[in-house]
Amino acid sequence: MIEEIKLTESNIEKFIHEKVEDIKKAVSEGTAINALSGGVDSSVVTMLGHRALGQRLRTVFVDNGLMREGEPEQVSGYFHKLGVKVEIINAREEFLGALKGITDPEEKREAITQTFYKKVFGRIVKESGAKILLQGTILTDVDETVAGIKRQHNVFEQLGIDPQAAFGYRILEPLIQLRKDGVRKAGRACGLPEALFDRIPFPGPALAARIIGEVTYERIETVRKATAVIERNLRNTKAFQYLGILHEDRVTGMRDGKRDFGQQIEIRCWDSVDARTARPTRLSFETLEQIAAEIIRDVPGVVSVTYNIATKPPSTIEAV
Ligand code: XMP
Repeated sequence: MIEEIKLTESNIEKFIHEKVEDIKKAVSEGTAINALSGGVDSSVVTMLGHRALGQRLRTVFVDNGLMREGEPEQVSGYFHKLGVKVEIINAREEFLGALKGITDPEEKREAITQTFYKKVFGRIVKESGAKILLQGTILTDVDETVAGIKRQHNVFEQLGIDPQAAFGYRILEPLIQLRKDGVRKAGRACGLPEALFDRIPFPGPALAARIIGEVTYERIETVRKATAVIERNLRNTKAFQYLGILHEDRVTGMRDGKRDFGQQIEIRCWDSVDARTARPTRLSFETLEQIAAEIIRDVPGVVSVTYNIATKPPSTIEAV
């Protein structure tokens, strides 16, 4: 049972100090590696690791081909400004290959986990000689995995998987006692810009968590373009998270006076504090109409746009 820590103004510096010391002690004279996705969790881990180890931390951004528009360059740009070097590793073909033909949600997640930790990361860690991987697992990831709701890509120990035996390296998880709100506070205190510590959550399996059915290059492009429209329009809402889902079913639509058996995008926008429960944000109908019009205009093949109005539970934030 992992004990939750609630960060407040009075214990936040102590928390950061302790985690930095833990990392120093665990890595000792060696080196560590961490994967930055640009989400708040991995961004905070990068700052803690950088503080503890400086140049002895190697930070890589694995471009799995499932990220949002311009994301790898944008994220490495933010960290460049903070004095942290980020290496972008192109692993797009490997991920796409691993996802080919898979439609089951858990199998999809498993394929991404294996490709990331065993193939791509296993190779990078082996080459680098690092013995420790720093990772941004948080308490909600553990809870949902243990409860069997969703297999989070970054949870092993609680499932009885020993990373040392399975992948050949140790994993250190400095944020495991925090929930999202605590991670954001730690991010602000570590000096992350607001664009990073207040970034909406984005799942480890990235856009694959938003594609129902097979993940193909074309389908990633579709959900990526829809995501760009949704994020652009909802950026100024105070919502916890907003996203687009690409459905597998096609529906009859019409375009240029002809029948178009097209695709469906579902918009989701959530109010939540810690992602454990969530309610759909009461967006105005004008906002929804605007997003729908832009999706139809900018995303080829889409003829239907819907808005999710179910709460979590029983829904979940992502669709896969
Ligand atoms: P769900 O979809 O389970 O999502 O309601 C809860 C929160 O977690 C994010 N999420 C993930 N984060 N790895 C992560 O680091 C994952 O595999 C993963 N799956 C979902 C999701 O975006 C939401 O904020």
